[in-house]
Amino acid sequence: MEKLGGVFNASSPEMTAMAGLTLYMIAIAVVIFVIIAASVTYIIIRYRKRSGDESEPYQDFGSTTVEIIWTVIPTIIVAILFFLTVKTMYAVDPPKGDREPDIVIIGHQWWWELYYPKSRVLTANELHIPVGEKWLARLESVDVIHDFWVPELFRKIDLVPGHPNYIWLVTGKPGIYLGACAEFCGLQHANMRIRVIAETRDEFDAWQLGQLKIPTTPTDGEAAKGAELFQDRACMNCHYISGTAAAARIGPSLTHFSTRQTIGAGVLENTPENLKGWLLNPNAYKPGSLMPNMKLSDLEADQIVAYLEALK
Ligand code: CUA
Repeated sequence: MEKLGGVFNASSPEMTAMAGLTLYMIAIAVVIFVIIAASVTYIIIRYRKRSGDESEPYQDFGSTTVEIIWTVIPTIIVAILFFLTVKTMYAVDPPKGDREPDIVIIGHQWWWELYYPKSRVLTANELHIPVGEKWLARLESVDVIHDFWVPELFRKIDLVPGHPNYIWLVTGKPGIYLGACAEFCGLQHANMRIRVIAETRDEFDAWQLGQLKIPTTPTDGEAAKGAELFQDRACMNCHYISGTAAAARIGPSLTHFSTRQTIGAGVLENTPENLKGWLLNPNAYKPGSLMPNMKLSDLEADQIVAYLEALK
């Protein structure tokens, strides 16, 4: 599995601000640590018990000066950190006003449903977003608490059932950024991966246009048989495919499935071989997955693979 990028590898204004704040805090903590460690070391050596000296060391009780110093200095440090934190919070989370969300991110065990309300594109697990634009995301959950986190781009935010949260999404430069669910949400919490595909406005528009097209249902060959099986074998009870009777949103939308990079929220690369393995036994790749084993024969799996691969 590919590795997540670190928070110090910031590729958005939001994470740059947060990484900066974290560095300030670490720097202040390091200075305090060095002063205290050096003082303790000095005192241990300087005032150690020497042989032949049985006298009690000098005892000092109460000093207004010292009390003032160790009250005022930490107060100043906390005040500085408070100021920097509030400044960063405001930069990262400005009020959203009455703006409508650009993207709705819905947590499911264990994948991400992605809905673009303005274009009505519905997809899963791969968040396409135009670089440099400030997008408002609404985050929801259909089951348990999840947490959206893409360390290089966005801070963590919970997806809470019945309580939508909002976050601003801004990406700095084009690329693919990996994210993960950061709130334990069950057996496959670790395999609830998201990838952000940050692209130029033109690339994004082209992608969005492609997603809006209704894929043609194959009329002959293995793919056509696969399309029939998809209806007969109850796949349609959970999945959505635009232009067909499959209209459920329990599992991921498969409308343009073959344009996606991975299967099962990042557990497998999207290749025909992997897809076949997944269809034959999802639990082999994602134990506990809510995608049932449909007990397909080898031939049926090939036919459904042909159908899904045709959904461009
Ligand atoms: Cu969803 Cu952890």
